[in-house]
Amino acid sequence: MRKREEAISLSEVISALGYALELKEGSVKGHAQRSCLVGMRIGREIRLGAVEMDALYYALLLKDVAGNYFIDGMDVAQASLRAVRGASIMRKLGLNELAAEAVRCAEERWDGGGIPDSLRGEEIPLLARICAVARYLDTVASVSGTRRAMDALAERGGSWFDRGLVRVAESIAERGELWKGCFWGEQQDETRHVVCDLDPGRREYREAAEIDRVCEAFADVVDAKSHFTFSHSIGVADAARGIAERVGLREDRVQVVRRAALLHDIGKLSVSNRILDKVGGLNAAEWRAVRQHPGYTRRILEHVEPFHEIAVIAGQHHEKLDGSGYPNRMVARDLSLEARIVAVADIYGALSEDRPYRAGLEFEQIVPILKDLAPKKLDRDCVEALVDVVASHRKPVFAHATPLVYAAV
Ligand SMILES: [Fe+2]
Ligand SMILES: [Fe+2]
Repeated sequence: MRKREEAISLSEVISALGYALELKEGSVKGHAQRSCLVGMRIGREIRLGAVEMDALYYALLLKDVAGNYFIDGMDVAQASLRAVRGASIMRKLGLNELAAEAVRCAEERWDGGGIPDSLRGEEIPLLARICAVARYLDTVASVSGTRRAMDALAERGGSWFDRGLVRVAESIAERGELWKGCFWGEQQDETRHVVCDLDPGRREYREAAEIDRVCEAFADVVDAKSHFTFSHSIGVADAARGIAERVGLREDRVQVVRRAALLHDIGKLSVSNRILDKVGGLNAAEWRAVRQHPGYTRRILEHVEPFHEIAVIAGQHHEKLDGSGYPNRMVARDLSLEARIVAVADIYGALSEDRPYRAGLEFEQIVPILKDLAPKKLDRDCVEALVDVVASHRKPVFAHATPLVYAAV
């Protein structure tokens, strides 16, 4: 019989993702909310139907979910990959094709100069064109004010943007309604409230498979941050599930462990890529930034009520049994079996993945390193379970890349 799960609402998920994305370096605080307000006003003005308006709402809030804001001079291939990944995350969140395609094409340009497919004019989905206008308006307004944003938009009508939508935005602005409720700085929480009122709401995830996909979407958000971590979370989740099954956890606990492993590094969005992708040792300030990421993982996940236990487990993935871990120097008696499993899986993942300065280690090289760390720092049963699981497959569970923060392990 299928176990009934505690439902998760899409608004909780959006709130957690919104908090996580705002931790990213270079993110403009409140951008998602303000661009949502502006874009929804354009959508209403051109009389989009209810289905389109719902899709537009989620696309506007989540368009940067894979960090796919394309700036001239940026690596086009990387940016295109992020746009595609953004759409895939939308699908994993159960959002429809209209919303997914709006995110995928939100950086196409009217004249064909955008990404990922160099679409032109009306080949670009209408919702994507609205997202592009709304993103640009808030991005410029956040730096130079709304008047300059309107001028800059007008200058790019017909080249970057759909001229018809530019006129629509101008006419709403002339009535004084385009920027109503858009606040910067201290007051931006008020924008959040106005945006919440527009929430089509009601959507909930109840089935275990749906909740797993939401967790996979979060994992994609963090793995998309750096090409060195493009599938770290999924890999760690596979290893953690293997250990959990081997040590005999019940099916529902295996599920908790796997979800915690998928989500364990979401707090890494707070760490600059300059640090995550650095070749060579980290200085004291950089280490401080790295050591904060498990705490952020916990805070992000606490936005989702049913994830509270997962938040605790995931937030402990760098703790060690002897108190030498971070961020809270916890010791053996504080660390649950679930947390110990994720810690072992994470280190195994880190060692087996490629780094900028070395290839991933072979299983035969990893075993003695893990055995050296147990039982002082890592749980011996978990290490043995991992070794058994991997040995029985006779190939690494994964062989991807992860940042250098594990270099000291
Ligand atoms: Fe981590
Ligand atoms: Fe990790």
